[in-house]
Amino acid sequence: MGRKIKLPPMLDPHVHLRGMDWAHKGDFYTETCAAIAGGYWAVFDMPNTPPATLDRTALDHKLQAINQQAVCDWGVYFCAGANRNWEQYPLVINDICGLKMFNNSTTGNLLVDDPTVREEHFKHWDGSKIFAQHAENETCAEIINLVKKYRKPTHILHVCTKLEVDLIRQAKNDGLPITCGVCPHHLWLTQADLTRLGSLGWMKPNLQTQQDQDALWQGIVDGVIDIIESDHAPHTLEEKSNTPSPYGVPGLETTLPLLLTAVHEGRLTLARVIEMVSINPCRIYGIVPPPETYTVVDLDTSEVITGDRLHTKVKWSPFEGMRVQGKVIETWIRGTQVYDGERILVKPGFGKNVYAHS
Ligand code: DOR
Ligand code: ZN
Repeated sequence: MGRKIKLPPMLDPHVHLRGMDWAHKGDFYTETCAAIAGGYWAVFDMPNTPPATLDRTALDHKLQAINQQAVCDWGVYFCAGANRNWEQYPLVINDICGLKMFNNSTTGNLLVDDPTVREEHFKHWDGSKIFAQHAENETCAEIINLVKKYRKPTHILHVCTKLEVDLIRQAKNDGLPITCGVCPHHLWLTQADLTRLGSLGWMKPNLQTQQDQDALWQGIVDGVIDIIESDHAPHTLEEKSNTPSPYGVPGLETTLPLLLTAVHEGRLTLARVIEMVSINPCRIYGIVPPPETYTVVDLDTSEVITGDRLHTKVKWSPFEGMRVQGKVIETWIRGTQVYDGERILVKPGFGKNVYAHS
């Protein structure tokens, strides 16, 4: 047994757990099992799984299912739609972790591409919770202008280009209420890996260049990047081999091992990892985690990532074959051990809505 360390409660504010109409890809039980096996205390689920979270009825449908099935704590996003659904905001605000707007095309039909509608959403949102944005490059610049105008706390998801890092650095210097997250696939893979990975390397935003990847690592070192988010988005291997393949990759079980490997290699400090997977996400989303909630990792265990040992329903990873250093051996939530390094120790429904009492 090697060096063991205890990490504070880990929160991934950007996952697509599936369930409901897409339960064949993953469900609230299997994908939250993946979360606790990945060391996470809580995950925040995106609204694009059908039926999309565009109104109170769809939200209730999701809340009921996730409440019955989840094994980790959780939150769910509401979706800012092209259908101008802002009249729903007061009806849902107490039960959600934040609002998500899809400003560029991706999985699901939730694209908001009309600048007037984007602005109306900013206007109507009360700003009491995070407004999370899929906004690539020029769209990121446009969203930053709306943040300048409306001053509502905004999180730019899956930042992956040098341009985005530069725009966000400037926005932060200007004092705007803006934060951002980066995904492991953009930190460890580039366009060059597509020859090897094929559609298993397809996600939105796409894999980028080496220069972009270098800018992300620089942003991590100098503090522009606040959060590491997995963008866990399972599709079955069969779906991924279809033409065209859907966009998205699973990531909940590989994020922490990859980050600990970067620590082992001297590319990151452990303190910076803890900031980006625990302290910053909790601060940005305004959460005080429950007591007796932590993760124990063994820093001296090294293993090769293999799909069939993952808990996610789809059992594959774009990182398959990589050797990582550091393994989750215990996850504890609210005083209960939920994971022992191999097995899930709690029943579906153990997980609680982080925002239930707001
Ligand atoms: O690659 C992606 N997959 N990007 C997204 O924005 C959505 C996600 C999904 O739901 O599959
Ligand atoms: Zn996503």
